[in-house]
Amino acid sequence: MPAFSSSAPGKIILFGEHAVVYGRPAVAVPVTEVSAKVTLTPNPRGQPGELKISAPEIGLEAMLADLPAENPLARAIRLTASALKVSHIPAAGLRIKSNIPVASGLGSGAAVTVALMRSLSAFLGQTLPDERVSALAYEVEKIHHGTPSGIDNAVITYACPVYFIKNKPLVRLKPGRPFTIIIGDTGIASPTAVAVGDVRKAWQAAHDHYEALFDSAGAMADSARKAIENGNIELIGPLMDANHGLLRKIGVSCSELDRLVLAAREAGAWGAKLSGGGRGGNMIALASPDRADKIARSLLEAGAARVIVTDVS
Ligand code: MEV
Repeated sequence: MPAFSSSAPGKIILFGEHAVVYGRPAVAVPVTEVSAKVTLTPNPRGQPGELKISAPEIGLEAMLADLPAENPLARAIRLTASALKVSHIPAAGLRIKSNIPVASGLGSGAAVTVALMRSLSAFLGQTLPDERVSALAYEVEKIHHGTPSGIDNAVITYACPVYFIKNKPLVRLKPGRPFTIIIGDTGIASPTAVAVGDVRKAWQAAHDHYEALFDSAGAMADSARKAIENGNIELIGPLMDANHGLLRKIGVSCSELDRLVLAAREAGAWGAKLSGGGRGGNMIALASPDRADKIARSLLEAGAARVIVTDVS
């Protein structure tokens, strides 16, 4: 039996993070410069069900049976097997390799889950349709994020730009013109579940105020969708700046994110904002392709731990 591998990209939220948890629209795109890869290699000498998992980047080496049921990898494996009606997975080694930084807003958890579900179904001789992969990955996202909107699993499963509203059919976006995004990493790990949980507490304490902020973020995501589809790239930058202002009011920015956002704008970006859960992790900037290197250098000088340049097309 051969080995089975599958990869999934990272992602960034262009517009609408946090508000999307409360039913407002958001826009996200895949980031193919980083990815998670999962390989299953059969072990003909092992007993059925014996699955040895190794993820060197996070220092994990364990048998499936020894992982707690609420471990995201264990949950992803069991959900896939049960969706495919397989009671005993043949013995195998399962290796996870990922260069997506963890807890940084780039969707590392969802990418590992999606790659794992696809490689495991291929290993079991079956195919899970994208819709199913995304729905099952959403269940695992609940372990990572508490009350996720589902946007991360959706954009990573379909690996294309998306316009997303929770519990509504996904809209695949076709940009009217390609555009360039520079991603700057603060280097500060910030679990999304914590930021999402804090926003929930703030929303409960000041419901109307937060609802108004989420409404504004949703309206920006709607305007951005039109601008992207019509190829009016120059309209997207100011919307990003405005969305960053809202995210600051929502309470999820931090001085390191604000510093990188400012550095990108000063270096000639058309707009910049934090991306994902916030409180650390990544920010994004929009610029003409010939400015991307200059902005990347400025971000590094302003303290970014690393920079990725990606084209959305
Ligand atoms: C995380 O990538 C985006 C958040 O809006 C959480 C979610 O949508 O599940 C912060």
